[in-house]
Amino acid sequence: MNKIDEVKNYWDNRPCNVRHSKETPGTELFYNQVEAKKYFVESHIPVFADFSKWKGKKVLEIGCGLGTETINFARAGAEVTAIELSTGSLDLAKMRAKIFGLQDKIKFFQGNAEELNTFINFEQFDLIWSFGVIHHSPNPEKIIQQIRYFMNSQTELRIMLYYKYSWKVFWILMKYGKGKFWKLKKLIAQYSEAQIGCPVTHVYSKSDVKKLLKGFKIKEIHIKHIFSWKIPEYKSNVYKKVWYFKWLPKKIFNWLEKRFGWHLCVKAVLQ
Ligand SMILES: C[S@@+](CC[C@H](N)C(=O)[O-])C[C@H]1O[C@@H](n2cnc3c(N)ncnc32)[C@H](O)[C@@H]1O
Repeated sequence: MNKIDEVKNYWDNRPCNVRHSKETPGTELFYNQVEAKKYFVESHIPVFADFSKWKGKKVLEIGCGLGTETINFARAGAEVTAIELSTGSLDLAKMRAKIFGLQDKIKFFQGNAEELNTFINFEQFDLIWSFGVIHHSPNPEKIIQQIRYFMNSQTELRIMLYYKYSWKVFWILMKYGKGKFWKLKKLIAQYSEAQIGCPVTHVYSKSDVKKLLKGFKIKEIHIKHIFSWKIPEYKSNVYKKVWYFKWLPKKIFNWLEKRFGWHLCVKAVLQ
């Protein structure tokens, strides 16, 4: 099986955030619970997306997953084109648009973002949004190349990539790798997601991002997200902090998060 099929299978088997609710997938309650949990634990996402800014604008979302941001861009009045590799995820995102009566505001396409121009028509967008996707594709640089075709001098690119020098990478190395740093690449892919065995997970330093976005002007890079909850309780929607984060003063936690968070949030335009 080639790598992109492995990636597709992985996300088909368990679409991202599908376990955020125990309700039947595809019901209104399910989607509401998924959104509530996602934005509780990743409250920086709506801030980074700034949904209301895109009212009346054209938004292209790369890797929409279950469509949590897709639906919120549409709710805010944007005209959204959403693409996704995983058919299982895309079906749930499409159903979501129907349930919330937003199907006329969103065009969905299934495909590999590395070949974007083979399955969506040429159009220039105001915002290209991709949260936690590009680092899961075998050839991230191909996605960036593709994205450029759909941008003009006014288009803003907002992406989230996993950060190499993060608490999460250190935690994976120590917890699962027992410090075996030479196995780090494999360990990261294996343990980066809620479900083990992700076939592709790249991580980036700030200078890796600059290389990836050659020809772009980076307007902002900020680091967010240290997951601080006890996992078994978190799975049952009980939010208890692990002891070392529980006792850490908020100020110090914020300081750490800004430097060693897992999410590199990048805003860029064409140069
Ligand atoms: C961690 S999930 C994020 C989904 C969504 N952006 C969110 O925040 O909920 C990663 C998603 O990227 C999609 N993906 C990975 N590689 C892709 C590619 N080459 N083209 C399109 N989608 C891709 C996966 O199918 C998966 O749904």
